[in-house]
Amino acid sequence: MNRNTCTGVVSLVLLFSAFSFFSACNNEDKKDGGSAPAKSDSTAQMLERGKYLAHHVSLCMDCHGQRDFSQFSGPMKEGTEGIGGDVFDMHVGVPGVVYAKNITPDTVNGIGKWTDEEIIRAITRGISRNGDTLFPLMPYPHYNGMSKEDILSIVAYIRTLKPSSNKVPDRKLMMPASMAYPPLRSPSLDSNQKPDVSDMVKYGAYMWNAAACMDCHTPMENGQFILTKLMAGGRTFDLGTFVVTSANITMDTATGIGKWTEQMFLDKFKNYRDKAAYASNPGKNNSIMPWSMYANMTDFDIKAIYRFLQTLPAINNKIEKYPATK
Ligand code: HEC
Ligand code: HEC
Repeated sequence: MNRNTCTGVVSLVLLFSAFSFFSACNNEDKKDGGSAPAKSDSTAQMLERGKYLAHHVSLCMDCHGQRDFSQFSGPMKEGTEGIGGDVFDMHVGVPGVVYAKNITPDTVNGIGKWTDEEIIRAITRGISRNGDTLFPLMPYPHYNGMSKEDILSIVAYIRTLKPSSNKVPDRKLMMPASMAYPPLRSPSLDSNQKPDVSDMVKYGAYMWNAAACMDCHTPMENGQFILTKLMAGGRTFDLGTFVVTSANITMDTATGIGKWTEQMFLDKFKNYRDKAAYASNPGKNNSIMPWSMYANMTDFDIKAIYRFLQTLPAINNKIEKYPATK
């Protein structure tokens, strides 16, 4: 099992290199244009951007906050921003148990004493302050492809969270996490650039990567991503009170979302901007897909992800979201 987990990560890396050109090739053509805004404006903009990414795209607050599964799609419990404690174990494919850490600025149990460089290294390279390798369920292989501005914005934002003294337990893994450590595509963030919005597919690829959609929507076998089924769904998550399997979101017309128009895709997300759409308890028909958080991605970003999904191979893979038994 351990060995399989490692090969899974290796194939994951191949995939990343396959996609890295989306962010890497575009480096030269566009620089963030124009006049430098006044300092306070730019700080405010950075915090705004960091908050947007942390809450609605890269979903730091999904894992590092606490989710309320008495409502549909487990919206984050107010006031738990960054306090950590989410548990990931064998039921979601981890060889052991890892906990999302407290990433609030608390100096004892959070990351208040970490330098920006240390935080950036953890987010984009998966190396903790003490040198430990983070288990790649923390999506650092994806964040490794994000622009420096986006990562700095996230760091700036999480520094503004309310410090919490929540003490998160230590992980217990059946193998050293360093064995699962993927060789990352970017040694330095300086070469990463966010593609210009004028190229919606490339830009969509960037957002899709930043949102780590792949991790839940690509099936795994013995801890290994099956890349011939990229985005074809089929990962099963057993959350105790419900069991759900991720959907096929390739453009296959029979078993995927090939019949969905861009507008339908957008509307599906937008629907959950309204609290009423997720406020009740659907029992066994709940979902781990963090709809309530992704819902507030901008319309443009959601559409761009759709455009990028359209460029991936359509894969025939029939999914039952909810098992008939259980
Ligand atoms: C899918 C869940 C998930 C998401 C999304 C996620 N993390 Fe994590 N994160 C984890 C887990 C789990 C760990 C602990 C891994 C381990 O112990 O090996 C972790 C560890 C960390 C650490 C290291 C803390 C320490 O004390 O070692 C930092 C910093 C961090 N995450 C920040 C972030 C930020 C910022 C984001 C958003 C850009 C983010 N995480 C998104 C699950 C997640
Ligand atoms: C934490 C795991 C997880 C992540 C991350 C995730 N999904 Fe999902 N997604 C699921 C599961 C499970 C389902 C099936 C249950 C449901 O419909 O909510 C699903 C369903 C969907 C559906 C509905 C498809 C249908 O046939 O009804 C769409 C569309 C979708 N996801 C798109 C995305 C996109 C785009 C991203 C990234 C922005 C993403 N997902 C990230 C787990 C996830």
